[in-house]
Amino acid sequence: MKKMALACVAGLALFSVQAQQLPVYLDGNQPIESRVEDALSRMTLQEKIAMIHAQSKFSSPGVPRLGIPEVWCTDGPHGIRPEVLWDEWNQAGWTNDSCVAFPALTCLAATWNPDMALLYGKSIGEEARYRNKSILLGPGVNIYRTPLNGRNFEYMGEDPYLSSKMVVPYVRGVQSNGVAACVKHFALNNNEINRHTSNVIVDDRALYEIYLPAFKAAVQEGHAWSIMGSYNLYKNQHCCHNEYLLNDILKGEWGFDGVVVSDWGGAHDTDEAISNGLDLEFGSWTNGLSSGTSNAYDNYYLAYPYLQRIKSGKVGTAELDDKVRRVLRLIFRTTMDRNRPFGSIGSPEHFDASRHIAEEGIVLLQNRNNVLPLDLNKVKKVAVIGENAIKMMTVGGGSSSLKVKYEISPLDGLRHRLAGQAEVVYARGYVGDASGEYNGVVTGQDLSDNRSAEELLAEAVDVARSCDYVIFFGGLNKSAGQDCEDSDRQALGLPYGQDKVIEALAKANKNLVVVNISGNAVAMPWVDEVPGIIQGWFLGSEAGNALAAVIVGDVNPSGRLPFTFPTSLENVGCHRMDAYPGVKRASENIWDITYKEGIFVGYRWSDKEKLQPLFPFGHGLSYTSFSYGKATLDRNELSASDSIHVTVPVTNTGSVAGAEVVQLYVRDVKSSVARPLKELKGFRKIQLAPGETKSVTFTIDKSSLSYFDDKQHVWVAEPGKFEALVAASATDIKSKVAFQLK
Ligand code: BGC
Repeated sequence: MKKMALACVAGLALFSVQAQQLPVYLDGNQPIESRVEDALSRMTLQEKIAMIHAQSKFSSPGVPRLGIPEVWCTDGPHGIRPEVLWDEWNQAGWTNDSCVAFPALTCLAATWNPDMALLYGKSIGEEARYRNKSILLGPGVNIYRTPLNGRNFEYMGEDPYLSSKMVVPYVRGVQSNGVAACVKHFALNNNEINRHTSNVIVDDRALYEIYLPAFKAAVQEGHAWSIMGSYNLYKNQHCCHNEYLLNDILKGEWGFDGVVVSDWGGAHDTDEAISNGLDLEFGSWTNGLSSGTSNAYDNYYLAYPYLQRIKSGKVGTAELDDKVRRVLRLIFRTTMDRNRPFGSIGSPEHFDASRHIAEEGIVLLQNRNNVLPLDLNKVKKVAVIGENAIKMMTVGGGSSSLKVKYEISPLDGLRHRLAGQAEVVYARGYVGDASGEYNGVVTGQDLSDNRSAEELLAEAVDVARSCDYVIFFGGLNKSAGQDCEDSDRQALGLPYGQDKVIEALAKANKNLVVVNISGNAVAMPWVDEVPGIIQGWFLGSEAGNALAAVIVGDVNPSGRLPFTFPTSLENVGCHRMDAYPGVKRASENIWDITYKEGIFVGYRWSDKEKLQPLFPFGHGLSYTSFSYGKATLDRNELSASDSIHVTVPVTNTGSVAGAEVVQLYVRDVKSSVARPLKELKGFRKIQLAPGETKSVTFTIDKSSLSYFDDKQHVWVAEPGKFEALVAASATDIKSKVAFQLK
């Protein structure tokens, strides 16, 4: 006993001596900046160079000699991507890397609930942490400029204010796990077609008012620890090493102290990469012959070519030290933060979170004759029609593709929910895309069906006639040319002849509900013939359960559209202005794409052109009804340095509990520059019991009133008359009040 006690004391003494000698960079009690400087001072030139580019598909090496760990990245943004081989996109074949799929970010945005964004970020961050990742490659906040963009489903819609408010809690939630969020794709990556060769030409007003605010909020309010440069060019420079975007705006104006990560293969030039703000290079292509067979990573732009330039005296080391400092800072904030939690993967809490977010994001677009919710007292036999009732949607779509622990299909979700209460009969209706593989992950579903379109239609109509309720699940999927990375859609209409099927079903049964599964707006030529329409997004692991809950009314829908559904492509600004996908240069493979519509994106365009959309931005119905009282102001004048408050009472006038999203738009009545008719400047989701009234108060200050003056390069709020519009959507203004800016 005595011996043991002595040994213990000796052990303690030894430990305390060691603790005193701990180098500063290893001492978690030291300020991060001191640790960064200490580590930097100990590194060799070669170690510094190694730290700023990849050593494998998704990792960079850290500094093994100093015990500074590797940096591991993972996609993002809807779940943790399965492990791939060191140098390949192919699967590593792990058996413990299946994840929870969270709803696509369009659905998250459709919740209009920042608490859901925090829950999302925290949960996905826990999964990333458990898999020992330092960087989660997400969220994405590129603005929805055209409904053809194949990657809109990974973003948060058309409005800079909404996406700003939603991205901040996501970032904070992820980073609370000691995992860096990597906000992408910075910037102006608004289409997938020609994504490596599009050179965006946009005025500074649109850049600052529309395309940058969500990134700025992620950096300045969310304190994002990393950001990903985009593939496209801007001002004729690739965005991964773009002087104006990265040096001037991100690191200059916004004071970003994190790491700029290249998109995979987005770096193209060593000199630009050195001087224009890229910090960590991934995914660069080497030709595999003269370079890259055995030393691909040494041939990265920020590897050997950089080292050569330094050794020959062509460039100094100031930029290198800045890049290394940033990477070190990220490592200390993440992997070397001894207090970071352990994380968890596939937990019941994560599936619950996924389901909750899905339920809150589903949007009830149309509900004639109260066809929804499905009344189980009356309905005894339900026809479920359509490929998307059974097709797995977590596999495909590009880098956001996942390997999930499970995914509940809409058909399974409904069968489960209706079990013992109503019979469910399924018919395919059409065959879209029967494939089910991405990057070596297979769904295991055999969706092949050799019947002709006529046979499939005839069967669907027969089934619809034999039932007392019909639910069609269609829309898009994650295949190339639909909601998928690296290609855009060809048209606004639904693929695979679905319109014909829906029209036939509408004739066969008047109790028809169409659930559109997509991350994009689609045309609905049958809108007047179909009483119930739901926007069902890509909902992740719990898709079927969430949809069933909304369909039967266990959950009262409260999602609102984060983008406009136009009636046609011609009613979208960039298409009307013939500003997509740009013009190819005669002499080189570059597409100049001029954002001719300027700031008039989404509802800003519909308002300007007085267009009635199919479904407006902010729209979404409920199974209850709400009435708005008169909006009032606490004062009717403000100065540039203070704020006023607008308050509106909202009452649930129906018979079930529900949530309303109260929206505040601001209008500059008279301005010296062209301004949108109105702009979203506040929103609040409130839960109301039947008969209950709550008052919502919004703050309006200079930032709500300003436009970006691109000549002076400043935000300007012009004195004069403004209006505060309280609304239930961009076209449903409930009350307005006028005020003056002194
Ligand atoms: C995508 C990124 C993704 C990266 C790594 C790229 O193709 O554009 O969003 O994070 O691949 O998979």
